[in-house]
Amino acid sequence: MALPVRKAVFPVGGLGTRFLPATKAVPKEMLPVVDKPLIQYAVEEARAAGIEEFIFVTGHGKTALEDHFDRHWELETTLNQRGKRHELGLLEATQQPAGAVVYTRQPEPLGLGHAVRCAAKLVGAEPFAVLLADDLVLAETPCLKQMVEVHAETGGNVVAVMDVPREHTARYGVLDVVSDDGRLAKAQGLVEKPKPEDAPSTLSIIGRYVLQPEVMTELAQVREGAGGEIQLTDALAATLDRVDFYGLRFEGVRFDCGDKAGYLEANIAFALARDDLRDKAKEILARYGAAADAAG
Ligand code: UTP
Repeated sequence: MALPVRKAVFPVGGLGTRFLPATKAVPKEMLPVVDKPLIQYAVEEARAAGIEEFIFVTGHGKTALEDHFDRHWELETTLNQRGKRHELGLLEATQQPAGAVVYTRQPEPLGLGHAVRCAAKLVGAEPFAVLLADDLVLAETPCLKQMVEVHAETGGNVVAVMDVPREHTARYGVLDVVSDDGRLAKAQGLVEKPKPEDAPSTLSIIGRYVLQPEVMTELAQVREGAGGEIQLTDALAATLDRVDFYGLRFEGVRFDCGDKAGYLEANIAFALARDDLRDKAKEILARYGAAADAAG
């Protein structure tokens, strides 16, 4: 039986350059999809998967994020005085039990692997999850919950994967697959951002991981890899000789909210998935679609 996954790491130290100027003063993870910041979707997903400790690896200019998960007494008092029960409930969803949220800093944005490494002491010697808030997953069963359930059976490292068009492999960590039952693939190798012609498959890792503590040991040693950054994939690859590695084709739709088109699509999809916005969203889309058609 695999040990339970109780801790999750949220690397939020990136610069978010693809979203400038929006991300000059506001962290990318605080951008809202409809009315909720990306990071809150990720935290809620982690909570639904049974996570008890939330470790944020932040960087310069991320105080808005810490404030978001803090109490806001003045606002709460005002809402209370005005009898705004619904809005108070929305604030409650940003709260975790005292002591459940921990912040540490990534002194320099040296890459995702480096950000995860900054949480090594806080994670300790147990399995842990990593969630990249800019990968948003719309799913009936939250993506991390699906992964934690698989991990309970298989142990090892479990990452969320999807098949991507071959011309996109250079954006992802890609699995060299040894066996595949259509849902769960086992990997014997991993390559970060391979050119399409060099990619061992098209099965690519998205921003959800359940990892063993051996990954932290490797992260302490890995050097800069693709793009001059310390890559998480390189540390994962270095554990393949002793830790089983699985890619789960999760059920759900993933949106790359680090990319403008992906972010726009997420806003549309999440609005269409909501009872209070669906009709309005459909009407807006039809209207703009018709106007664009008329304009040729
Ligand atoms: P990205 O590759 O999207 O980089 O990081 P970025 O800096 O956030 O954005 P761009 O490419 O400049 O627009 C993927 C995830 O890893 C985190 C980011 O916050 C994001 O959640 N990250 C990346 C760190 O925490 N630290 C880093 O040094 C790099």
